[in-house]
Amino acid sequence: MWRPDGQACAADVDHDDLIPPVPAPRAQPLGLLALLRVLTRNPLEAWTAAHFEEPLVVGGLSVAPVAVVSDPAAVRRVLLENAGNYEKDWLQRRVLANGLTDGLLTAEGHQWRTQRRALAPLFARKTVQSFAPAMAAAADDLIERLARRDGQIVDLAVEATRVTLDVLERTIFSDGFGHDAEQIRLAMKTYFETIGAIDPFDVLGLPRFIPRPRRRRLRAALRLFDATIDAVISSRRRALSRGRDGIPSDILTLLLEAVDPQTGNALSERELRANILTFIAAGHETTANLITWSLYLLSRSRRWRARLQAEADREIRPGVDVVVDRLVETRAVLDEANRLYPPIAAISRQALADDVLAGVPIRRGTMIVIAPYVLHRHRKLWAKPEVFDPRRFLPGARETIDRFAYLPFGVGPRTCIGAAFALQEAAIVVAKVMRSFDLEEAPELAVEPVLKVTLRPRGGLPLRLRRR
Ligand code: HEM
Repeated sequence: MWRPDGQACAADVDHDDLIPPVPAPRAQPLGLLALLRVLTRNPLEAWTAAHFEEPLVVGGLSVAPVAVVSDPAAVRRVLLENAGNYEKDWLQRRVLANGLTDGLLTAEGHQWRTQRRALAPLFARKTVQSFAPAMAAAADDLIERLARRDGQIVDLAVEATRVTLDVLERTIFSDGFGHDAEQIRLAMKTYFETIGAIDPFDVLGLPRFIPRPRRRRLRAALRLFDATIDAVISSRRRALSRGRDGIPSDILTLLLEAVDPQTGNALSERELRANILTFIAAGHETTANLITWSLYLLSRSRRWRARLQAEADREIRPGVDVVVDRLVETRAVLDEANRLYPPIAAISRQALADDVLAGVPIRRGTMIVIAPYVLHRHRKLWAKPEVFDPRRFLPGARETIDRFAYLPFGVGPRTCIGAAFALQEAAIVVAKVMRSFDLEEAPELAVEPVLKVTLRPRGGLPLRLRRR
C-alpha cells in the first residue's frame, strides 16, 4: 500500500521496480535553433531537470515568455480559480483550427459556455454507460482480429487506433456511414495524419497566407468529410421529423436534440459538424494511446498481467454485460499508464492580465504550460515517480493524490468532457484483451515515447500475442 506521505510500506519492497523508458531530462535549456529542431523531432526531449524539480520555470524569449507551472496551488489558480484570466493560447488554436473551429475544444467565451451546457448530457455517466454494449462489441471484433494472428507480432498501436475509431463510429453513428464508409475512413486517416504533425511554420508564428503544403491534402479530406457528415445529418433529421420511435439514441441524435438549458438554443449546422469532428479528433487517438501504453506496461510486468487476467476471468463472462466499476485493478493500470504517458502531455494557456503564480509575477501575454507529463513525474509530488506502480491508484491510496497533481484529463471548466467515455472504453478493451491473450514483449523492441500532438510510441507497438 501507499501511505499518504507517498512512501511504500515494508510489505511491498519486493515489488518489481519497472522503470519504463523516457528521454533523460537535459541539464541545461536548449538555444532557440536547437529547440525548434527538438520540438519538431520530439518535444519530450526539451524538458530539463529543473522542470521536474521546481514549482515554476520561466523560459521562452523576453518578448514571448513561457512559464511551466507544476505547483498544485498555481495549477488550481490557472485552470480553476482564475480560469477566466487564462485563454487557450494562439499556438494550440492554430494547430487545432482546421475543421475544429466552432467546436467545443477550440471555442472560447459565450460560444464555448453555451456549447458546454448543451453537450454535457451527451457525456453524462448514465449516457456513457449506455454506450458500454457498443464498446464491448468493438472490443470483441478486435479480439477476433487478433485471434486470427495468434502467435504473431502485431502492431498494437494500429489495432488500438482501429478499435477507438470503431467505438466512435458505433456510438456517434450507430447506423454507420453507409456506402461511403471506406472513403470516410481514408479521409479521417489523412486528416489525422496531417493535423498530427506540428508544422514548424505554426511554431514560428508565420501568417496563415503562407502556404503549408501538407494542408492541401487536409482540405481535400475535410471537404469529403463535411459532405458525408452533412448527408448523414440530413438523413437523421428527416427520420427524426417523422418521430422518435425506432431512432437510435446515439451521439448524433443526442447532438441534434441538444439545447443549452439556459437559452434554449440548439447548435448551428457549422457547430454540429465541428463537434462531430471534434469528438472524433479529441477522442480517438488519445484513447488509443491510453490503451496502447497500458498494454505496453502490462507486457513489461508479469505481476500486473497476472492480476488483470485474474480480474478479467472473474468479471467478464460471455453474454453478460461488463460492469466497468468492478474492473478495479484494470482501472488502476489505466490510471498509472495515464500518469506515466499522459496522451495530452501538455495543456497551454495565455495570460490575459498580470497575475502571480507560485509567488512569481506573471506578465500579461505569458504562455502558461501545465504539462501532465512533467507534473506526473515531478520529484516533489510523487514517490518514485519514474516507477510503474498501479498500487498508487487502488482504493485507499488514490484518495491521497492531490487533485491538482494528476491531470490526464485536465481540470476546471475546460476539463475533458469525454473522460468517463475514454476510461470506460479503455477498461473494456484492455480487460477483454487480457482475458483472451498473453502479451509478450518482443525482445528487439525499444520503445521510444514521442510527442506528436499526442504522446505515443514512435513507430508503433509491435508485440506478440498468444491466445490463453
Ligand atoms: C484518454 C483519452 C483522453 C485524454 C487523455 C483526454 C485529454 C483531454 C484534456 C487534457 C483536455 C483538456 C485540454 C485543456 O484544458 O486545454 C481535454 C478536453 C477535451 N476532450 Fe478529451 N481526452 C480524452 C478522451 C476524449 C474523448 C473520448 C472525447 C470525446 C468523445 C474527448 C473530448 C474532449 C473535448 C470536446 C474537450 C474540450 C472540452 C472543453 O474545452 O470544454 N476527449 N481532453
